[in-house]
Amino acid sequence: MESYRIKNTDISDQSLCTTLKYFDEARIPCTRHSNDQRKEIFIASHRALPAESRKMKGLDMPAKASTENTEQMRETTSDLEQAHSTTGFILWLTGLRGAGKTTIARAAYTELLARGLCAEVLDADEVRRHLSPDLGFNKQDRDENVKRLGYVANLLASHGVTVLVAAISPYRQARDEVRAQAGRRFIEIHVSAPLYVCERRDPKGLYRKARRGEIKGFTGIDDPYEEPLSPEIRCNTDHESLNECVDKVISTVLGLR
Ligand code: ADX
Repeated sequence: MESYRIKNTDISDQSLCTTLKYFDEARIPCTRHSNDQRKEIFIASHRALPAESRKMKGLDMPAKASTENTEQMRETTSDLEQAHSTTGFILWLTGLRGAGKTTIARAAYTELLARGLCAEVLDADEVRRHLSPDLGFNKQDRDENVKRLGYVANLLASHGVTVLVAAISPYRQARDEVRAQAGRRFIEIHVSAPLYVCERRDPKGLYRKARRGEIKGFTGIDDPYEEPLSPEIRCNTDHESLNECVDKVISTVLGLR
């Protein structure tokens, strides 16, 4: 009997059907055909991936014989869950208020959908209303906010969703904790613009209020922003166009898949 190897586990023809079910859910093209044809589509999908992406997904293809028993099936299920769980990513956009996080997140979201990927935006302004109405802007609350965003983003990513999180998330350690939990699917994007540029944009006049002392502890004014030391992507929105920034994000995601 032919079998295939996923995350160091041999998968038989029979459990390949289960595999295909998972990848159907992950939206890898796989329409209704006989098992044999489905198998070909599956192999073609993953052979087409760059070697590095195949390795990341744990999808390597040396065909080997397999023994079918309950234990193996249990392992297989957990390996399939892991293989499936690597299909989503967390694109974490961090930066000052007014740097352009939401604009880039929304534009990249549209691009990802257009490419048939499953995506979602968690925008801090919006999410705070629903998920964190109890939180303010002291360090402890901001860290808690980031923790909650990270938790939800991780859940979604583990189901194959590419999640765009747009949050100031000013503290490096809190972001690094999300990274530690999410592992390789965490992509940090520093949306960067000098403070004076963000202040000039200031669509809701919040910087002006902060400068007048009407808002206390405002990031960049009287509260710190800790820049990422080595983000996967840097978008310099003071001299890069929206298209350039979105292209960087999309090509990074596509390169990882
Ligand atoms: S974070 O620091 O906890 O990551 P988050 O991104 O969720 O912040 O929320 C930032 C938004 O909250 C800003 O875009 C602004 O509209 C609003 N806001 C209100 N008070 C403050 C403040 N003191 N500092 C920064 N943003 C604030």
